[in-house]
Amino acid sequence: MDAITAISERKGIKKFHDQSLPKVIIENILDLATKAPSCKNRQPWKFAIVQGDMILELKDLVESSPKDLDIDLTCVENASAVIFVFNRLSRTEDDYSENKLIMDSLSIGSAIQNILLVSETFKLGSLLVSDFIELGDEVAEWLGESDQLVSGILIGFPDENPKGRPKVHYSEVSKWYE
Ligand SMILES: Cc1cc2nc3c(=O)[nH]c(=O)nc-3n(C[C@H](O)[C@H](O)[C@H](O)COP(=O)(O)O)c2cc1C
Repeated sequence: MDAITAISERKGIKKFHDQSLPKVIIENILDLATKAPSCKNRQPWKFAIVQGDMILELKDLVESSPKDLDIDLTCVENASAVIFVFNRLSRTEDDYSENKLIMDSLSIGSAIQNILLVSETFKLGSLLVSDFIELGDEVAEWLGESDQLVSGILIGFPDENPKGRPKVHYSEVSKWYE
């Protein structure tokens, strides 16, 4: 599948078949994620891959949280893997500024987009779930991480084929200067 097809066909998938994903495929996806551009080539991303019984633990973590969370656990159900993405620089650099947070977040976004598109080319379903940020410190502590959680990505074998969600046509959000 070429890049244009992957971009055109990708849709957020919220239902997965209960099926495990070979580690080598996830390694392949992560390898391609790290080819993403990053501001000043800082490569601020770090990944934590949760699979198998650890996904059940994750569900318990969400369910037992006293916080009023927005996380939809039905989406997590049956995902083959949850890839948590951390910013490995925001809590380690002394002079971490708002501008650095913006550029590092953009860089992490490009790595995430690679993950979504590569998953599509592998005929896998994916969903970016930023609602995990609400539980960022708890997830980090559970995984023994001290870095800042940016997002979670569900990956698995799609058990739905949703209609494409409406998109604003580019002509409505573009202004030309010639
Ligand atoms: C930064 C970001 C955060 C998102 N967080 C969530 C989320 O927490 N829960 C969820 O169900 N979907 C989440 N999504 C998926 C969006 O809802 C989805 O991309 C959007 O509705 C467009 O649908 P599409 O991905 O099928 O084109 C997120 C997407 C992005 C880009």
